[in-house]
Amino acid sequence: EMLEKGGFDHFMLKEIYEQPRSIKDCMRGRIYPEEGKVQLGGIKEFAEKLKNIDRIIIVACGTSWHAGLVGEYLIEEYARIPVEVEYASEFRYRNPIITEKDVVIAISQSGETADTMAAIEMAKERGATIFGICNVAGASIPRLTHAGVYTHAGPEIGVASTKAFTAQVTVLTLMAFYMAQQKGTITTSKLIELLTELDHIPEKIQIALESNDLIKEVAEKIKDSTNCLFLGRGSGFPVALEGALKLKEISYIHAEGYPAAEMKHGPIALIDEEMPVVFIATQNSSYEKVISNIQEVKARKGKVIAIVTQGDTEVKKMADYCIEIPDANEAFLPLIATIPLQLLSYHIAVMRGCNVDQPRNLAKSVTVE
Ligand code: AGP
Repeated sequence: EMLEKGGFDHFMLKEIYEQPRSIKDCMRGRIYPEEGKVQLGGIKEFAEKLKNIDRIIIVACGTSWHAGLVGEYLIEEYARIPVEVEYASEFRYRNPIITEKDVVIAISQSGETADTMAAIEMAKERGATIFGICNVAGASIPRLTHAGVYTHAGPEIGVASTKAFTAQVTVLTLMAFYMAQQKGTITTSKLIELLTELDHIPEKIQIALESNDLIKEVAEKIKDSTNCLFLGRGSGFPVALEGALKLKEISYIHAEGYPAAEMKHGPIALIDEEMPVVFIATQNSSYEKVISNIQEVKARKGKVIAIVTQGDTEVKKMADYCIEIPDANEAFLPLIATIPLQLLSYHIAVMRGCNVDQPRNLAKSVTVE
């Protein structure tokens, strides 16, 4: 087992560190930055259909559902197709309106999640075209879907999903660009620009990983908290949700992810000197707004941990701890901003003596409903 962990103390840590490689593997042969082209062999027989779809429904559970929320942001932004993201377990027990013109994207690391499988079966009966995004070749979900794209992240052993999440987000990014290409909602020059940046995201993830020692220090400061809030806006909101899920799964600290602007509609009541609040406060379209949310937390003596863009000076004046990540287009922010949050929950869990790779009550794939 020591050998399998490749010198790391836990599979989760190994998998966190594998992300520059796993994302590269996920993009290999699929992006052509110089030509401004995306090729997705797995769904190419549906290339024509994609020109005329009215709506996309994404179904998934847990972390995969968070990836779906990033997908919604990207597909709506670039391909201009309306997207709904549904918990598979809720979707399957409603009477959802689905037509033959709908495309359903099912996301699952394991490809064995019972609720996601049931949602696929229901959508299929109602005539939708089903695409899968899966990490395990030949699993049940890829066999149920009409077409799909594998994430190629390699086996994920840690129960808490890390590299599979960023690979799912990468595939969704490629799908959004592919759909935009088919629909003509993006120019080739814009695609050249975006794909060139995407191609360098693994290097930026590598840089984000280099904050590990600092993150460990921050973990030390907040490890005894009983609650933690994660806030973000735009594509930073799903990152906040995923940060909170990771922390509760492996450290058993109660954590919630919220859109930063919703804080004033309720969660602000929780804030006191005992409450750490993790902000995704990178320099993008909502930067100024997030700064005022940070001020609101500081005014109530909350402890602020901020994920900021390298070289930031504004947030540094207010936050208790700042963790820098390289600058990136908002579309790619989730791929980078997730990394420090994975490391933060990892270190907190280790310091609390928790079983990081196999947290209590959880299974790697949930094959029961
Ligand atoms: C992730 O850290 C969780 N263990 C869990 O939420 C997981 O993402 C969920 O059960 C879905 O699994 P799947 O991707 O294999 O379908």
